[in-house]
Amino acid sequence: MDQKKLGIGFIGAGEISILHGRAIRQIPGAYLVGLWNRTEPTARKRGKEEGCKVYKTPEELVSDDEIEAVFVCTNLETHLRFTRLALEAGKHVLVEKPICSSVAEVEEMKAVAEQSGRICVPGHNMIHEASLQRARRLIANGEIGPVVSCYVMYNIYHGDERAATLPGVVRHLLTHPLYTMMYLVGRPKRVAAFKANRNHSRQPEKEDLAMVLLELQNGGIAHLCVSFAADDLSPSPWTYTIKVIGTAGTTHYTYQDWVEVKQGISHSHTYTAYQDTITNEDRAFVDLCITGQGKPLSDLDDALWAQKATEAVEKSIAKRVVVDIG
Ligand SMILES: NC(=O)c1ccc[n+]([C@@H]2O[C@H](COP(=O)([O-])OP(=O)(O)OC[C@H]3O[C@@H](n4cnc5c(N)ncnc54)[C@H](O)[C@@H]3O)[C@@H](O)[C@H]2O)c1
Repeated sequence: MDQKKLGIGFIGAGEISILHGRAIRQIPGAYLVGLWNRTEPTARKRGKEEGCKVYKTPEELVSDDEIEAVFVCTNLETHLRFTRLALEAGKHVLVEKPICSSVAEVEEMKAVAEQSGRICVPGHNMIHEASLQRARRLIANGEIGPVVSCYVMYNIYHGDERAATLPGVVRHLLTHPLYTMMYLVGRPKRVAAFKANRNHSRQPEKEDLAMVLLELQNGGIAHLCVSFAADDLSPSPWTYTIKVIGTAGTTHYTYQDWVEVKQGISHSHTYTAYQDTITNEDRAFVDLCITGQGKPLSDLDDALWAQKATEAVEKSIAKRVVVDIG
């Protein structure tokens, strides 16, 4: 007997939709029905690449009965609008990170999702990785002793053209280390942060580097770094590196364990693990939609905390103070 397949639609068909497209082709329980993109030539090009329908409006996409779930892959400022449109049309939603522009917007998204009774999950892909799930287990079971420190370091150069289409790294990238740290060692109490622009002089108003220190609940310290400014070319690069050091052991994860010498979407190399995190995330979302069983690895409450932490980081930078995370 044929297993039921989940029909998916993309609202927004830019770079990240390429990775979701590759992911869906690897998931037997799902298929891409169609997409909508604001710019028509991109919509046509991406529709051809994916071999799927192209809709004229997002309203037309969500009124197609063949679509049961929508991936919201537009820019941050429009996520709430399109997520609401899809949920109110009865679709499940995976919404790309960061899911909203403010705490108030995340709270509104949560309320709309609860009212709709549909599944709505944040695109927190980086934790969809077996070695991080093992690390979390080790930490939670006390196998590496009380946590001393947690590091999540991202250093991947992005050229001016790509950086011009994105917010600064605090808004665009910091969500990844925030939810990853939260997944591994919990939600810290307070934060101090710095930002800089070191290699994008054409857009001096946007930071291409930020570093954040957070005090953990147990008194340990987390250090997060997000940078578009330069690649780390050292012998053991912090391209995307995660470390948790405990009094009785350590865990470690790095993109550098799997590198292909070909350009990734915005990256000089293809970091194989990155695509895998998206594929694993999409597979988990599809299973959740089909079976209605289980919980996402990261949910809207985690996204709400990540947004509160992002705003605390911005306040720390603006006021040059240590800020409690509410
Ligand atoms: N999970 C990850 O690792 C990851 C990686 C990259 C991007 N993202 C996220 O994915 C989202 C899209 O990023 P991208 O890299 O694909 O960017 P992109 O610039 O390639 O694509 C942005 C898309 O948003 C659309 N858009 C812009 N303004 C719009 C508007 N006012 N109304 C409707 N559509 C609009 C564009 O047409 C385009 O389709 C962002 O939220 C970003 O943070 C996530």
